[in-house]
Amino acid sequence: MPTTILVLNGPNLNLLGMREPATYGHETLDDVAQRCHETAAACGLEVDFFQTNHEGEMIDRIHLARGTCAGILINPAAWTHTSVAIRDALAAVELPVIEVHLSNVHKRETFRHHSFASPIAVGVICGLGSHGYRLGLDHFAHLLGAKP
Ligand code: DQA
Repeated sequence: MPTTILVLNGPNLNLLGMREPATYGHETLDDVAQRCHETAAACGLEVDFFQTNHEGEMIDRIHLARGTCAGILINPAAWTHTSVAIRDALAAVELPVIEVHLSNVHKRETFRHHSFASPIAVGVICGLGSHGYRLGLDHFAHLLGAKP
């Protein structure tokens, strides 16, 4: 049984650390990846960490998770609010999905209040910065009974 969690990051998250730091903080995406790997190791899981600015590439990566990963933790970034295609890809692979956002999207512009992904997610974490990724991984460990 797979114990790998696919951690996906959507567009512009490669600029984390220099992108609007008042909103997204000073950590880089490499820092977030490092924290995810540490958390996963402590939880008895592995992490496959991926970021892309290309929607088709994200959809292909989601498809590959079927049968190889135990779940998907995704920060779809702007695609959260726009992409039926990513929502459908997540639904198609029939894996548990946790949606995460660094910022509290509900405190921000109204166009960020709607998510196409949330209705198919087990849960949604937002506003807790990169700690949200760690909480999501910890929840996967709980769901999968993986915690040592
Ligand atoms: C984000 C919130 C989105 O609205 C935004 O488009 C992002 C990042 C977050 O992590 O807070 O790019 O997903």
